[in-house]
Amino acid sequence: MEKLYNSRMWLIVFASMVFRPSLYAQPFQQPMQVPQLIDAATVNLTMDVEYHNFSGITGDSLNVNIKTFAYNSPQALGTNTYLGPTLRWLEGRHQTINITNNLPGSDTSTVHWHGAHIPAWTDGGPHQKINPQGGTFSPDFEVLDSACTLWYHPHGLDETYVQVQMGLAGTIVVNEASDALGALLPHTYGQDDFPIIIQDIFFQRSTINPDSFSIDTGKVGLGRRVIVNGNIRPYLDVPPQNVRFRILNGSTRLPYPLWIGPNKNQHLPFKLTGSDGGYLPDSARTVTTILTAPGTRNEIVFDFSAYAGQTLYMTTVSGESAQDSLILQFRVGALPTAPLGIVPATFPAHDVYPYGAFTKTRTKKLLGNSANGPHPGLFNINNLQFVPETINDTINLGDTEVWTIENRTNKPHPFHIHDIQFYVIDVKDTNGVTQPMPVEYLGRKDDIWILPGDVVRFVTKFDDFGSPMPFEVATETYMYHCHILPHEDGMYAASNVHAGMMLQFAVWDGTVRIDDAQEIGEGMQLYPNPAHDVLHLRGESRIPSELRIYDIQGRMLHKEALSAFNGDVPIPVADLAVGMILVEWSSAKGTFTRKIVLR
Ligand code: C2O
Ligand code: CU
Ligand code: CU
Repeated sequence: MEKLYNSRMWLIVFASMVFRPSLYAQPFQQPMQVPQLIDAATVNLTMDVEYHNFSGITGDSLNVNIKTFAYNSPQALGTNTYLGPTLRWLEGRHQTINITNNLPGSDTSTVHWHGAHIPAWTDGGPHQKINPQGGTFSPDFEVLDSACTLWYHPHGLDETYVQVQMGLAGTIVVNEASDALGALLPHTYGQDDFPIIIQDIFFQRSTINPDSFSIDTGKVGLGRRVIVNGNIRPYLDVPPQNVRFRILNGSTRLPYPLWIGPNKNQHLPFKLTGSDGGYLPDSARTVTTILTAPGTRNEIVFDFSAYAGQTLYMTTVSGESAQDSLILQFRVGALPTAPLGIVPATFPAHDVYPYGAFTKTRTKKLLGNSANGPHPGLFNINNLQFVPETINDTINLGDTEVWTIENRTNKPHPFHIHDIQFYVIDVKDTNGVTQPMPVEYLGRKDDIWILPGDVVRFVTKFDDFGSPMPFEVATETYMYHCHILPHEDGMYAASNVHAGMMLQFAVWDGTVRIDDAQEIGEGMQLYPNPAHDVLHLRGESRIPSELRIYDIQGRMLHKEALSAFNGDVPIPVADLAVGMILVEWSSAKGTFTRKIVLR
């Protein structure tokens, strides 16, 4: 049996608490915003600059309009001033999203569908840029995910942190075409089924005008607050019955432990029903707390039937002050509303991918305590830095793989991977001792909170969306990264270093792009591609030149000086390992490089 909560996780949370004095006016004066639900096969979304009042609380210094970003849609009523509408996707339905970036200046963005199993060109990672001032992007794909809660947010290279902090995020509710369990659970959006987006946010007071604030997107956030669906300490009217909360930690940095109770010290039990990729296996788990980490989703059901007419709270440890630990007030109504949802005793079992001796394995080390790594102080994965043109992992389509994630840093990190959902196999501590599986690791996951020193193994399968080699990075790669956004962006790097804790992979469908005879400068031809044992350079060079072959990690495999030639120069490649190589030909007029696949 798994432990109900992992006490080691609390140590980390409490250790990072920073108490700051703050002036509080009477909270819980404004209703929690429930983002509008858009249920359409084609959705139009814009990214806009807005002004948002996070507080709305009389007497609160933050009761002012602050510049934000938001997603809007002409298909919803009114304008969002923070976050975006909730999108409903239906499994099996073809989904199109037409996005327009109305942000000004140089605010290039992307929209990533976090947790979705979709083709790489639609994934909205750093390569799928949408230009500011009217740029567009229209991904379309078939929805293949199970019933679950996903989310969308920007993913621009080195820009994710700032744009999410400014307000760009929204939830996605995926429904299955037929879902017996989903029909029993509470499922009426805005009535007994609510998205709850919990975020840390940092405000800074203008030094010129003390009544003026802005969102602090700098390296050192001061004035940290917790917001729920874009507001500080709102209230929510709930009926006295089972109510489902789709909790998204949309924070740029912090994990939050959550409780529900009449005050911050009394913790009532609730049911944990789902994780990142859908329902928990076998049954819901009864808990009194969960730890929600940046990027993750937890679906819970709380039974309010015994609390008609009463007031309860969602509480956390906010790192702000004891008062701010009450982050959401529940005002429980007098009468239940049909339909009444239940939490059935048994949930469908999951088929965890079988893994054994023949499964591929990969190890990813989270590194970067201030002394080691290529850039001191910069967190990274495997001592590598994100290079847009470099594909760090090539995965064979259809392979089951076991990934081992070792946290060798002194901070916890939420590790997230695109394209797939995985199952955690086991967790070991620094000493190699197997740890109890936290409830937060159960079921299908795409994002897990990994403590310092821990080694987590997960199994997954790369079933779809393979591409031929050589890969096109712009449309065929997926990311894996830390979901603490300043770490992902490499924000604490000394200078001009891209994405600190992010690398990319592509899935190989086993075929190669047939591209016979490529031009390689000065009318020279390089062929065939793919090559097997001999590669040919064909053309005329009246002066000596040089040919070098590199692997994709940039290691030189072969070097050859060529005297003047006219015609065909055979280059033996039979001794080189199969895979992709870079062929570089240098003549007096320059250096030309082409990718060739060896098979
Ligand atoms: Cu939620 Cu790659 O991100
Ligand atoms: Cu993602
Ligand atoms: Cu990190």
